[in-house]
Amino acid sequence: MTTPTGSTAVHSRVEGRAKVTGAARYAGEISCPGLAHGWLVVSTIARGRILSVESDPVRAMPGVLAVVHHGNAPRLNGDYTNLLGRPDPTTVVFQHDRVPYAGWPVALVVAETPEQAREAAEALVIRYDMEPHDVAFHAGCPGTAENPPYLHKETAKGDMAAELALSAFVVDAEYTTPEEHPSPLEPHAAMARWEDGRLEIVDSNQGSRWVADEIATMFSVDPASVRVRSEHVGGAFGSKLLRVHQVLAVMGASVVERPVRVVLTRRQMFSLAGYRSPTVQRVRLGADVDGRLRVLDHQAQCLNASVHRFVEQSTEAAQVLYDADAHHTVNRVVPLDVPSTGWMRAPGMAPGSFALESALDELAEMCAVDPIALRARNEPQTGPVSGLPFSSRRLLACFEEGARRFGWARRDPRPGLRREGRWLLGTGTAAAAFPVGVAPSTATVTAQADGTFTVRITASDPGTGARTALTLIAAEALDVPPDRVRVLIADSGYGRAMVAGSSMGTRSWGWAIKTAVGDLRELLARSQDIPPQGITGRADTSTLMGTLAKRERHTYGAQFAEVAVDVTSGEVRVRRMLGIFAAGRIVNPLTARSQFVGGMTWGLSMALHEGAVRDRAFGDLVGADLAGYHIAANADVPLIEADWVDDPDDDDPIGIKGIGEIGNVGAAAAITNAVWHATGVRHRDLPIRPDRVL
Ligand code: MOS
Repeated sequence: MTTPTGSTAVHSRVEGRAKVTGAARYAGEISCPGLAHGWLVVSTIARGRILSVESDPVRAMPGVLAVVHHGNAPRLNGDYTNLLGRPDPTTVVFQHDRVPYAGWPVALVVAETPEQAREAAEALVIRYDMEPHDVAFHAGCPGTAENPPYLHKETAKGDMAAELALSAFVVDAEYTTPEEHPSPLEPHAAMARWEDGRLEIVDSNQGSRWVADEIATMFSVDPASVRVRSEHVGGAFGSKLLRVHQVLAVMGASVVERPVRVVLTRRQMFSLAGYRSPTVQRVRLGADVDGRLRVLDHQAQCLNASVHRFVEQSTEAAQVLYDADAHHTVNRVVPLDVPSTGWMRAPGMAPGSFALESALDELAEMCAVDPIALRARNEPQTGPVSGLPFSSRRLLACFEEGARRFGWARRDPRPGLRREGRWLLGTGTAAAAFPVGVAPSTATVTAQADGTFTVRITASDPGTGARTALTLIAAEALDVPPDRVRVLIADSGYGRAMVAGSSMGTRSWGWAIKTAVGDLRELLARSQDIPPQGITGRADTSTLMGTLAKRERHTYGAQFAEVAVDVTSGEVRVRRMLGIFAAGRIVNPLTARSQFVGGMTWGLSMALHEGAVRDRAFGDLVGADLAGYHIAANADVPLIEADWVDDPDDDDPIGIKGIGEIGNVGAAAAITNAVWHATGVRHRDLPIRPDRVL
């Protein structure tokens, strides 16, 4: 359905009807003849060794087909490197008797039904040799700054001590964010089956080709004989590349020689799906009397599993938003006996922008400069760390439009003055930025004799609206109405393509589709008729990557929030939020707005609600489920408006910039800054729970 609004048409999701009528099927509900069910057993200790897996009594239980564990599991190849470094050892299941954290996979029970598998899994006795563990993350932990090569290194320029001495104002503060979990609504689920030496996996993931390649490597089979499909995905947020569920399903299917499905439980997702590390961040800002920055020092610390290095790159915002004569950023990691951390929506930028944009607000107060004017005063001419020119930088345009619509000019900067009954009212703002990238992808576009077109690309739509956006991109390139274009995605058989990650999916896939359409046009120009199998144009953008000029490429945004703080209960209510973004070309306003609003909602949740609590004695989480892990509910979420300014980018052949994550960036800081404005109290530790307000 297409509804025109102004000059830009909005398009509801092409798979929307299938989703709301239940016709869309997800990995955990797709069946096949002979299907057996695997149920995972995870460790109850936080560190030690498995002494024995008492599988005999369980094997005699009704319906049980196998109990797979380190003593009998097929050997896997976990000794390889992909684009992101070495695989998380969590996924290389059952290869040794070590337990590095609570919630580590220790056995898989396969049975005829999920109920039988679960009952047997819960009855399985595992004996451990426990060792002392350490899960306590705090500011005093010694950290290391040795990061994997794909992550930023420490950056430094200028003389920190000298510039601090010359600064009229100095903010030196420590900010903390808690452990946060993505926990998408649809759990991680996969069904695997072997047929004539070929492996087929029905999965829920962010990149079917990525998963196929990892599985092929791990099980030492030819990638060409592995097919992974992931038609519909109920949320991912960074947690759905290779995880244990795919490996377990394949291993189970190998052992019982039948198709096997494995679905993680909500609790298991809290240790096996990756999560955002807690952070401790020190920000030092030194400024002249007028607020111009002499010093920007952002030092962040995160934790890691002892078995897997992943860096929450909290200082990324500082590397692009503001320059200073002395500029320093570093991320340090602290290995502990905890589950592997990983990608979670707006990795690094979400916690980092909370610290940096709170510090900017503290500086604004100190220098008595309006927070927006302070940011305008510190607009860099080139990338503060890279030195590269900006491809486009419309941050101030976002602030201008946002300030106008939010009514910022009427704001009295003094805190603690506005009262409405028992509520203190305040407003706050923060800047946002997110990197823009593109990665090689392949695509085909087939022209059929009936005048329709089929696009095939191993894209993923984890609820983002990507499938719909790609339909519009293809239709525009083909110069036909969208209803003549069918976009098939999420099948590893369509070839290599970027995963749905780093806000790079639609940009990367869009470029491949446009290129394939170009190829198709040439083929069509040379042919008289379209044969029954159609005519197919192809693209592989890996050769085009070098044609993009080297630039500082980011999306930008200005976040605004109004809060009310109940001084008797400590409750913080967000009354309204406004986000104005500069994010290149917006392909589909309807789903784009949803992406921004979704990110901002997550920022609200981060500011006020979320925070997993780890039990130091047992090393596991207290309340590892959606009852114990508190997230914003409907009643917590007010009117959230998101819109955008034009952001043309002259030297960019794609023009799309990616919108999946920036909505999350800066949102928590805008709320925190509003809470300060309401109460005069600065909160440097998230979430701002009532007990912290009182
Ligand atoms: Mo995202 S956290 O790059 O899927």
